[in-house]
Amino acid sequence: MPPSDVRPEPVVPAHIAIIMDGNGRWAKQRGLPRIEGHRRGVETVRTTTFAARDLGVKMLTLYAFSVENWKRPQDEVGALMGLLEYYLKKELETFIRDRVRLRTIGRTDELPAGVQKVLRHTIEETKHFDDYTLVLALNYGARTEMVDAARAYAAAVAAGREKLNDSSWDTISRYLYTSGMPDPDLVIRTSGETRVSNFLLMQAAYAEFVFTPVHWPDFTKADLAAAIAEYNRRERRFGLTSEQLKPAPVQNVKK
Ligand code: FPP
Repeated sequence: MPPSDVRPEPVVPAHIAIIMDGNGRWAKQRGLPRIEGHRRGVETVRTTTFAARDLGVKMLTLYAFSVENWKRPQDEVGALMGLLEYYLKKELETFIRDRVRLRTIGRTDELPAGVQKVLRHTIEETKHFDDYTLVLALNYGARTEMVDAARAYAAAVAAGREKLNDSSWDTISRYLYTSGMPDPDLVIRTSGETRVSNFLLMQAAYAEFVFTPVHWPDFTKADLAAAIAEYNRRERRFGLTSEQLKPAPVQNVKK
């Protein structure tokens, strides 16, 4: 957001993005296979989706599968794809009942056909809900997103739909997967790692980051509320000084 657009601090961030981490460690600590951690992670996806909504969040983006995750053992990748398909099929009814819109970011056309089919169906069935949106980052990487945006923008320039001289963040950001979405206000990463791992690198330019040691399968509504409380202790300055953000003193008005 440009400095001229500074708004008063919202109590609840409108858009929260989460790097869900620690499924593997959660399982290892219990002597369970990694996939069991992912299975429990799916339960946390479900509870967090509704916890965020209850707390007044308007958009929740979850980093569910990165472009780098294909390099994991094939059985783990297969299990993650299976869980995703299972989750989407199971949740559709709840999404409709609770008016949750589903959206994705990432190269979803490279996902297995069964996952693509259920994604298309869920997106179509929920597209008219506008109170709350769950965004799944699937086969997502910020650098890949930039490459795809650059290609699409270059094609638009070549076709005469865009003028290179008019280019600005507003025009170019329309070619990102996140076109039409507000930037995240708060990015949370679970499991104690303090990296951004190729997630929303441009969109999180002014986001606050909260890192929690809790592994994703153990992440609760109370942890989410604690992250929001931490966000409220931050001062978002968008490049301005602290003084500039304070409301101007009320001038004496002559009667
Ligand atoms: C990170 O834990 C988690 C992932 C790479 C995938 C997240 C996936 C899910 C929560 C389940 C499927 C998602 C949906 C939306 C149904 P990790 O395996 O990297 O944990 P580790 O760092 O402890 O090994």
